[in-house]
Amino acid sequence: SGETSYNSWLQYSKITDSPLVDNYSPFLEHVVIPENTEVINSAKEELLCGISSMFGKSLNISTELKKESFIFLGTEDKYEMVKELIGVDLLGQLNNEGYIIKSFESNNSIIIFGKNDKGVLYGVFHLLRLIQTDSSLNNIDIFENPKNQLRMINEWDNMDGSVERGYAGNSIFFEENRFVRDWDRIKDYARMLSSVGINAIAFNNVNVHEVESKLITTEFLPDVAKVASIFRAYGIKTFLSINYASPIQIGGLDTADPLDEKVRNWWKEKTKEIYQYIPDFGGVLVKADSEHRPGPFTYNRTHADGSNMLAEAIEPFGGIVLWRCFVYNCMQDWRDRSTDRAKAAYDHFKPLDGQFKDNVVLQIKNGPMDFQVREGVSPLFGAMPKTNQLLEFQIAQEYTGQQRHVCYLIPQWKEILDFDTYANGEGTPVKSVVDGSQFQYTHCGITAVSNIGNDVNWTGHTLAQANLYGYGRLTWNPDLSSEIITDEWVKATFGTDLDVVSEISDMLLQSWRIYENYTSPLGVGWMVNPEHHYGPNVDGYEYSVWGTYHFADCKGIGVDRTISTGTGYTGQYFPENQTMYESLDTCPDELLLFFHHVPYTHVLKSGKTVIQHIYDTHFEGVEQAEGLKQRWLALEGKIDPTRFRGILERLEHQAEHSKEWRDIINTYFYRKSGIPDEKNRKIY
Ligand code: GCU
Repeated sequence: SGETSYNSWLQYSKITDSPLVDNYSPFLEHVVIPENTEVINSAKEELLCGISSMFGKSLNISTELKKESFIFLGTEDKYEMVKELIGVDLLGQLNNEGYIIKSFESNNSIIIFGKNDKGVLYGVFHLLRLIQTDSSLNNIDIFENPKNQLRMINEWDNMDGSVERGYAGNSIFFEENRFVRDWDRIKDYARMLSSVGINAIAFNNVNVHEVESKLITTEFLPDVAKVASIFRAYGIKTFLSINYASPIQIGGLDTADPLDEKVRNWWKEKTKEIYQYIPDFGGVLVKADSEHRPGPFTYNRTHADGSNMLAEAIEPFGGIVLWRCFVYNCMQDWRDRSTDRAKAAYDHFKPLDGQFKDNVVLQIKNGPMDFQVREGVSPLFGAMPKTNQLLEFQIAQEYTGQQRHVCYLIPQWKEILDFDTYANGEGTPVKSVVDGSQFQYTHCGITAVSNIGNDVNWTGHTLAQANLYGYGRLTWNPDLSSEIITDEWVKATFGTDLDVVSEISDMLLQSWRIYENYTSPLGVGWMVNPEHHYGPNVDGYEYSVWGTYHFADCKGIGVDRTISTGTGYTGQYFPENQTMYESLDTCPDELLLFFHHVPYTHVLKSGKTVIQHIYDTHFEGVEQAEGLKQRWLALEGKIDPTRFRGILERLEHQAEHSKEWRDIINTYFYRKSGIPDEKNRKIY
């Protein structure tokens, strides 16, 4: 059945191992819930359903503490009830979404205490996770505060039901220019998201076309409100992507100039209307002056003018404006060697530092280009101490195998979060910028483009569920290791069999490097087919308008982004990184071609020439992709047949498709360079 794949990491499979049952059972008699809010009710429902599914047992519900065998769920308002049991006064240290879990063997009780009801919900999911991962319930003493305030998801769903860069079917929200009305599916999505701590969502595409512009009109606001209420019960705030030109498009004005009084008033009225439907509306997400979307540039206004105007309108209601920095010239002449797309976001936004209102947050993609297999980290992080920043990842695998190849992105995201910007000297990693601990940010955190659709298993490739899970966990706490997150996901998803856990974990943890091996070498990027971006095409974007070049010729390859001889992009980093990237001696191999143009005979730190590296990694990557398939085959019988077959089909495709990548890349560079493979392998 499709049920196992649909249930993702919320399987709650029956627990039969008797020592475990013996450990857990004494705790599982009563649940004490003295409060009654929507979010607490979700917490209760999750607990009851998880326990009943894992133990075939229904908990008794009461509002009074018992002498023994109970699980208490409560907030600050009920602190007195459990104060003595908790002992040390931790209340003051909990943030708004934090929680404590404590268990007491003496009377088989567990206390899940949140400052607010959201903390209780997160605590319940944590307890269920402990059980799913075979952890003991004795002497639990957990204290958790999320590190990031905004932990967000962006859907790129269009109202016609398609999903931009969607690789898992159609939208779960829209079809035929209206809402789908399968509220249950949306609720199940809310459950998945809140189980990993996500607290905000914008559920329409950042490219807001004609129909979507009307989401903020009375035609659709009742439906938006309905969806918002489903998310609200799981502690998730709703945002909408808006069309910057709405005053013209739906307001009948002749301008969207942010400094025009009519426009300003229109947005104020519009905002008031939205809040009548959704009193806790999170705010708006804006892609302006980017890839042909309208924006303030039309009126010779800055991005500060544009975003502040919206921020002012939404401020009285407590809303925020997420303003994307993906602004670059997408009509570039490839002959123009002075323009470098990588420099664009910094050039546009850095000079505006200090001009944005407190409720504007700049949303910055992790790299300066566009979610490539590997690229530098955006130099904007840390470069705007007076401006709120939000980091944007892409969970959808647009450039990383489109959820047909397995490519587990947690290790990539961890490298980015740990990247030292040097903004406040050594020890200023990206994660400390976006969690607000470096500068006085009022709003900040992490967001990401979702990878789900209406496929039964949500993500097309079942292993791609791990990217959504890991995104949430990492965003809650960027200090978690990839290994811990992976271990949790595999156990919750496939059970705790040791072979299954170690094999799948290892496959996932290696998959990004494997994908990199048979695709783009040394940080070069963009060797994909235009438009859909799937499969190899070395010159696919070489002579295009998008600013995406590798400059390969018969002598060498790479983009010279140095200050001394190139585009000067390295100059956007703080001095330590600038120096590191500027020099061939210190630039790390994996980003060499992102920063430098070198001859094919250039010798890497690994001791290999660039050309030999290209050949070797491509041959190796194919073997590794074949290896993934073989390792999966060896798990037959330990995974339910539906998921086993589904994943196997994708791994078979990946192994085949990796050969296509290998042969096209190797052949291209062999023909260009004329340099044979040292090992004499088959190149066409
Ligand atoms: C990429 C992607 C587009 C998307 C854009 C964005 O360029 O291919 O489909 O609209 O990013 O992030 O806005």
